[in-house]
Amino acid sequence: MAMDVMREARRLEREGRRIVHMELGEPGAPTPRWIVEAAMAALRDGAPGYGEAAGDPTLRARIARHYLEHYGVELSSERVMVTTGSSGAFLLAFLSAFDAGARIGVTAPGYPAYLNILEALGLVAAPIEIGEETRFAPTAALIEAAHRKERLDGLLLMSPANPTGAMISSPELEKIAAFCEEAGVTLVSDEIYHGLEYEERAPTALRFWRDAIVVNSFSKYYAMTGWRLGWIVAPESLVRPIERLQQSLAICAPTLAQRVALGAFEARDGLEAIKAGYAKSRARLVERLPQIGLPRFAPPDGAFYIYADVAHLTHDSVGFCARMLEEAGVAATPGVDFDRTRGKKALRLSYAGGEAEVAEGLDRLAGWLRTSPSALSARTESFER
Ligand SMILES: Cc1ncc(COP(=O)(O)O)c(C=O)c1O
Repeated sequence: MAMDVMREARRLEREGRRIVHMELGEPGAPTPRWIVEAAMAALRDGAPGYGEAAGDPTLRARIARHYLEHYGVELSSERVMVTTGSSGAFLLAFLSAFDAGARIGVTAPGYPAYLNILEALGLVAAPIEIGEETRFAPTAALIEAAHRKERLDGLLLMSPANPTGAMISSPELEKIAAFCEEAGVTLVSDEIYHGLEYEERAPTALRFWRDAIVVNSFSKYYAMTGWRLGWIVAPESLVRPIERLQQSLAICAPTLAQRVALGAFEARDGLEAIKAGYAKSRARLVERLPQIGLPRFAPPDGAFYIYADVAHLTHDSVGFCARMLEEAGVAATPGVDFDRTRGKKALRLSYAGGEAEVAEGLDRLAGWLRTSPSALSARTESFER
C-alpha cells in the first residue's frame, strides 16, 4: 500500500502539486559521494560479469569482520552469503529452512512483504499481535504462548522494527533465542535497521544463538537501496543449500554493487552524518506530534518510522491517508499495510526523506488537523483496488 500511496502522490505531482513524502522507507539523502566514486572506479576496472553465487569472498570476509568489530561475534566468512537485498535473502532463508506448509510466526504490526513472500512460497504466516503492553516488541512469553496454541516451525523477527521503530531489548532477545533453540523453532532475525538506533545499540541474534539465521542489507543504514544488495548469515548446515538455491534463482548478487559495498564499511563518518539527520527529524517528530494532535505512537527506538495511533481521528486509515494526501499534500502509509485489523486506526510516517521534508510535513499536518473538518470525518474513498 505504501507503493500505491506513492503512485497517487506522483500523480498529484504530475498535476503540479507539491507533495511531502513520508510514505516510503527510503533514505532521502543523495547517493553518498563515496558510492558514486567507488562505482566509477569499479567500472573503469572493467564491467563486472557473473560472480560466485555465495558472493565475492573479499566482501564476505569484510562482512564477517563487521560482526567481530561491531558486535564482538566471531564468524567464519563461509557462513556469510551475499544476496539481492534482504528481499533476496528471505527467499533463500525460507526456501532452505522450511518445507511447504511450515508455520512461521510474524509480528503484527509488521513488514507487509513478509506475509506476501511466505504466502507465495506456500508457507503459513502465524501473526503474533504486539502492542503498547510490550512496547510494541515481541516477548518470549508471547512467542511461547503462540507456539503452545499451535506449533511454530519458524519465527521471523525484526529489531528495530518496521513500521514501529521499536526494539527488542537484549535480555528479551536472549530469552527468545533460548526458547527457539530449546523448542526447535528456526529463528530468522531481520537486522536490516541495525545501525539506525537512537538510544541503545541493537544486539545481533547471533550473540545468543549461533544457529540463528540473520538477514541484513545495504539498503537502510548504508543508504544503498537501488544497489539491491544484502546478506545472510546461515548455520553451516544451510550454507550449501543456500548457495545452490542462489545459483538457480539469481546466479549471484549484482557484482558491481558488491565491489562498491566493500567501501561501505569504511564510510562510517558519512553514514553517521546521514543518521544524525534522522535523529534530528525523529526528535522533532517526537516533540511536535503530540502538540499537533497525534500524541500516541510506538516507541521510536530505531529505523526511521513513527507508527501513530489515530483511533481518535479515524477508524479508516486508508481513507484518512487519502484525504491527508489530497488536502494536506502529505503522503503517509495507512496502518492496514502492517496490521490488517488494528491498522485501521494507525498510520506510519517515515522520516527517511530528510529534515526539510519532515519539517514541512509537520507544518502541513498541523494546519490540516487544526482546520480541516474532513480530517475528522471518515470518508469511504480509498486506495484499495
Ligand atoms: C523490515 C524490512 N525488511 C526488509 C526490507 C527489504 O529491504 P531490501 O530488500 O532493500 O534489503 C525492508 C524494506 O523496507 C524492511 O522494512
